[in-house]
Parts: sequence; C-alpha cells; structure tokens
Amino acid sequence: STRMTDAHERSFIMVKPDGVQRGLVGEIIKRFEQRGFKLVAMKMVTPQRALLEQHYEEHKGKKFFDPLLSYIGSGPVVAMVWEGLNVVSVGRKMLGATDPAKSEPGTIRGDYAIVTGRNIAHGSDSDKSAKREIDLWFRADELANWTNFSSKRRR
Ligand code: PPS
Repeated sequence: STRMTDAHERSFIMVKPDGVQRGLVGEIIKRFEQRGFKLVAMKMVTPQRALLEQHYEEHKGKKFFDPLLSYIGSGPVVAMVWEGLNVVSVGRKMLGATDPAKSEPGTIRGDYAIVTGRNIAHGSDSDKSAKREIDLWFRADELANWTNFSSKRRR
C-alpha cells in the first residue's frame, strides 16, 4: 500500500553473494532490526538463472544484465522480507545509493562497498516491485504473520 500509515508494508531485501562472503549478513539484519523493522521471512539460496531473469526482467538488454546475473547466481544469497512503516523507502535509504561511490557514509553500501558490481545488497524500489519480488522468492506459507504474535508490539 502507498498509505503513509501502513505499518504492514513489506520490502524484499537480499544480501548478495559478496555480502554473504564478506560476513555482512548479521550486520545487515542487525541494522534492520534495530531500526524497528520486523523480519517476516528469510532463506539462504543459490538462485537459479530463471528466477534471476524474472527478478531483474526490467533490466534485460542492458549491458550489465549478464554480469549481474552471473554475479548474483554465483553463490548463495540471503533473501529476506522485512515489514514496517515505510520499509520500502527507508530500506532503500539504509542501503544507500546503488552506486557505492554515491552512497553516504552510514548507509550499508556507503560503509562497505566501492563498486556497483559488488554492492552488497538489494532492496525493492517501490511497493509494486516489493510485492512482485516477494511473490517470486517466497511462497505465502513462508511468510510469518506477526499479528498472530502480539498486536501490542506492532508499530
Ligand atoms: S538503471 O539502468 O538505472 O535502471 O540501473 P540501476 O538502477 O543503476 O541498476 C539496476 C540493477 O542492476 C545492478 N547493476 C549492476 N550489477 C552488476 N554490475 C553492474 N555494472 C551493474 N550496474 C547496475 C544494480 O545494483 C541494480 O541491482 P539491485 O539488485 O537493485 O541493486
């Protein structure tokens, strides 16, 4: 939803193979947890090419498409769904600019990356992309329903 009051907004966040190999999974999870977002789903997988072609379909034909797919398909990624108010836009801010040369210090890429080709993590760029990506990577029964735990703790 695009409502500013949607506490159940969700974003797809993926730690890319370079982030996994460099031991940054915990750091990234920690930042999202400490910000106040809720982890709804998580899995470690080496994604098939077909999945990546769908995930990055809007970039098909661009010159970085093949290197991007080889890179993401090279090793395990940690795919996650995070939930909370404005998690799509705040998550993108926490990741920093796509090109780490333009990412502010204090952001994930601004603290840990130097080139776009190895920029640590992916985050959905809109609510529409988030829904599409979550559907691609997760089955409905892999998503936790926090409302079953405690409505008091919901933000
Ligand atoms: S565009 O053309 O402006 O829409 O592209 P951009 O938003 O900059 O990037 C789209 C995704 O492609 C990744 N990317 C790359 N990966 C590897 N190598 C190169 N050279 C490269 N250029 C762009 C970029 O990180 C974006 O992926 P995500 O997963 O969203 O970060």
